[in-house]
Amino acid sequence: MAKDWNPSSWRSKPIEQVPDYPDPAMLAETEKKLASFPPLVFAGEARKLTRALGEVAEGRGFVLQGGDCAESFAEHGADNIRDFFRAFLQMAVVLTFAAAQPVVKIGRIAGQFAKPRSSGTETRGGVTLPAYRGDIVNGIEFDEASRIPNPERQLEAYRQSAATLNLLRAFAQGGYANLDNVHQWMLGFVSGSPEAERYSALADRISETMNFMRAIGIDAETHPSLRETDFFTSHEALLLGYEEAMTRVDSTSGDWYATSGHMIWIGDRTRQEANAHLEYCRGIKNPVGLKCGPSMDADGLLRLIDILNPENKAGRLTLITRFGHDKVEAHLPRLIRAVEREGRKVVWSCDPMHGNTITLNHYKTRPFDRILSEVKSFFDVHRAEGTHAGGIHVEMTGKDVTECTGGAREVTADDLSDRYHTHCDPRLNANQALELAFLVAELVKKDHAATPQARAANG
Ligand code: TRP
Ligand code: MN
Repeated sequence: MAKDWNPSSWRSKPIEQVPDYPDPAMLAETEKKLASFPPLVFAGEARKLTRALGEVAEGRGFVLQGGDCAESFAEHGADNIRDFFRAFLQMAVVLTFAAAQPVVKIGRIAGQFAKPRSSGTETRGGVTLPAYRGDIVNGIEFDEASRIPNPERQLEAYRQSAATLNLLRAFAQGGYANLDNVHQWMLGFVSGSPEAERYSALADRISETMNFMRAIGIDAETHPSLRETDFFTSHEALLLGYEEAMTRVDSTSGDWYATSGHMIWIGDRTRQEANAHLEYCRGIKNPVGLKCGPSMDADGLLRLIDILNPENKAGRLTLITRFGHDKVEAHLPRLIRAVEREGRKVVWSCDPMHGNTITLNHYKTRPFDRILSEVKSFFDVHRAEGTHAGGIHVEMTGKDVTECTGGAREVTADDLSDRYHTHCDPRLNANQALELAFLVAELVKKDHAATPQARAANG
């Protein structure tokens, strides 16, 4: 177990991004209640995810992590969850086939409620109120009653997470994730896409493979792995009072686990090495993510790795880089070289969303071209350094929103106002998300073709 650590040891450290709750007694009461509720996820599941990520860290496999920037209470419903899962699984199939390796499937879902903000307040028309910090803290509406942090929202976030997770578990294990279904949905996407020709080469090969498997008697009846999938949850561990209340000892190992989600990550704004978020995360055994932006220097990164993964266990730590499409080459190589030099085992994942946010017609948006370009540079740099481009981390929805511009079915700057629904950052819509998967598949395949094993197999 981590030395001098307990679930509340973060409380004695400096902390950023804390909501100002007007009623501390009520906050404490709520946290006590949460601590008595059942865990959302189990230690054994978190260990399974660590093992799967460990394979990726060793160069075998790819991580697909995605979901809302921020989940919202208002958009909590079965249709949204289903449509997200449907788009996400299609991406997973395309990537699995292209990589010819397992894809570790992790949603930004069932707990992704708390948001860091660049300013603690927001001013509109001369009125200044506390900034919106996600539905788990306060309301997005710009009025005083909504914006005052309310602890009871944590209970609602817990309830929503439990209900979401319950449905996802049913989808993942109950037949909905059957490969045949997902394959049919994917073909539907391809035939409707303006880029159908480009994507059909890959899609046709998947179809052929499925037909071949069926012909030799490998089907969902006889092979449960064709109708089930492992799906994991993740969120930013920002609201530490909530996380502490959901932190439990695993009776089989005696270790502490965050039971609010399978994987949690530390944001680029709260990763100061002496601070509370690092302190909390170092003591729990779940797989942990660390967002790395342009201000991360190589020595600082190595110190954070020492704190978070002192035993250098593959799968424990995922570095999620987010530089901006034109800054990857300037920042990623030095981080990779430091990690390689010191022999640290990490998963490298690319978040192509957060460094590419611009404002158009007063909307926060992200051009699809820049998102793709960041992923491309990420792959280029890893190829040049001889390291494994291990995954992508995206903000996406299963709905046909107009939040990011571009894509084959182009969303223009003028379209943004049509269906701009996000509570925080702009997300890829279902078509853009799937398109990204097809384009990333081309990059993954190129890498795969370059491995020694693949060269040997191809003669
Ligand atoms: N169980 C396998 C996996 O998760 C195959 C599979 C079943 C699958 N349904 C899926 C893969 C849906 C991707 C999407 O990889
Ligand atoms: Mn975001």
